[in-house]
Amino acid sequence: MIDLESVGVAFDEFTAVADVDLGIDDGEFVTVVGPSGCGKTTVLRAIGGLQEPTTGRVTIDGRSPSVAQEAGDVGFVFQQHTLLPWKSALENVVFLRKMADKPPDREGARALLETMGLDGFEDARPAALSGGMKQRVAIARAIHLGADVLLMDEPFGELDEITRDELGVEIRSLWRRERKTIVFVTHSVPEAVFLGDRCVVMCDRPGRIEATFDIDLPGPRDTESLGSGAFQEQVAAVRRTLHESYD
Ligand SMILES: Nc1ncnc2c1ncn2[C@@H]1O[C@H](COP(=O)(O)OP(=O)(O)OP(=O)(O)O)[C@@H](O)[C@H]1O
Ligand SMILES: [Mg+2]
Repeated sequence: MIDLESVGVAFDEFTAVADVDLGIDDGEFVTVVGPSGCGKTTVLRAIGGLQEPTTGRVTIDGRSPSVAQEAGDVGFVFQQHTLLPWKSALENVVFLRKMADKPPDREGARALLETMGLDGFEDARPAALSGGMKQRVAIARAIHLGADVLLMDEPFGELDEITRDELGVEIRSLWRRERKTIVFVTHSVPEAVFLGDRCVVMCDRPGRIEATFDIDLPGPRDTESLGSGAFQEQVAAVRRTLHESYD
């Protein structure tokens, strides 16, 4: 369980995030959506122990985030992949696990790359992979670390819409299979609604939670459901909240 209690982050005089209260249960898929600069990355960094809150506190299963992170229990996927250019896709995937002193599992890493549609590219260096493929490697790396909590900051930000949709479906199925807790930041409302079981809407000045939506969509989520009426209605409701907060 991730628990944020009255979390505020200030940079000198500037309040980036104020009064964020949020509880995330084990195995939940939560998306955070909001305009640029509203504090999404700051909140994610606070959850991951990369940013100390100025007020309030964050705990992950009762521990401080930095302790959880050092134990290899928190995986990150950033907007821009952070793969090591001199290592192959496979080496990049196994690397973090090694750093966290977890037992090696090269076969598991291979299988994961295959699931992500990267079989045949295990030995390729990042420079020889497309943007979408690099992001897949970065996602595989975070999953292979074996962390229960995955924090994703606009991991599909630079990808084309078709690849985004496909990776979205893959992330959902990985999440179902692996039962991870995922916090996924995006500024795309449709992406937030498609991926999340709960969608947290943030607004700015100061960055805060404006509303949270339980996303209830019938049937499995696949590229078909992106066109469904229920999906469109949820997207419209989230959009309305975002726009109303600026009126
Ligand atoms: N290290 C820092 N020093 C000073 N100000 C910062 C720092 N990090 C973030 N901020 C400020 O805090 C606010 C929130 O930034 P943050 O990166 O969390 O926004 P965001 O919602 O992730 O935006 P985007 O969608 O563009 O990534 C911004 O106004 C930003 O300028
Ligand atoms: Mg950001």
